[in-house]
Amino acid sequence: MRLNFSRRRFSQLLIASTVLSSLEELSPRIMKKALAETKDKQSGAVSSPHAYDLSINVNGKQHKLKIDSRVTLLDFLRENLNLTGTKKGCDLGQCGACTVHVNGRRIKSCLTLAVMHDGDQVTSIEGIASGDDLHPMQEAFIKHDGFQCGFCTPGQIMSAVALLKEPCGASDDDVRECMSGNLCRCGAYPNILAAIQEVRKGGKH
Ligand code: FES
Ligand code: FES
Repeated sequence: MRLNFSRRRFSQLLIASTVLSSLEELSPRIMKKALAETKDKQSGAVSSPHAYDLSINVNGKQHKLKIDSRVTLLDFLRENLNLTGTKKGCDLGQCGACTVHVNGRRIKSCLTLAVMHDGDQVTSIEGIASGDDLHPMQEAFIKHDGFQCGFCTPGQIMSAVALLKEPCGASDDDVRECMSGNLCRCGAYPNILAAIQEVRKGGKH
């Protein structure tokens, strides 16, 4: 029997079989990698090349762990440490919901990577009370109804606490200006201002 393959047809078959066999070889590797990545995601482990050994103090507790170097400080607090008091509003540095303190200064945690704070001291809203005693600013926010839905409140309080140590003027307008990086969609501004001014004037902090 005469095989009637043209040279072109033969080349096509050769290429197809080569592609098929390399796909067969490749697919177990792809499956294995996908499986490993899923396991990593589930366990919170991070595989190279993005793994970074981070040592960071959060609310007085030292943490040493391997994290993904691409993770923001905000996501690190919320996802790795389960400190969900710090809120993610815009994730763009515009609303202030994610405000925390780093080495005593306020910072928008969505705008910075966790790895940039290796060795730093971070304080989140979970860390400003002393045991069962609320921080005076927390008490003042409650007393003056400085919130409605409460979503912006942790960021507002962290900014307000930091402001107490900043060279902010004494007038209401000065405080409004110093708090201008923290937005409140509910419009609780007058009550937030009253809370801050009470703490500032009382000097109880
Ligand atoms: S979530 Fe960071 S500024 Fe809005
Ligand atoms: S209390 Fe609702 S956003 Fe400020």
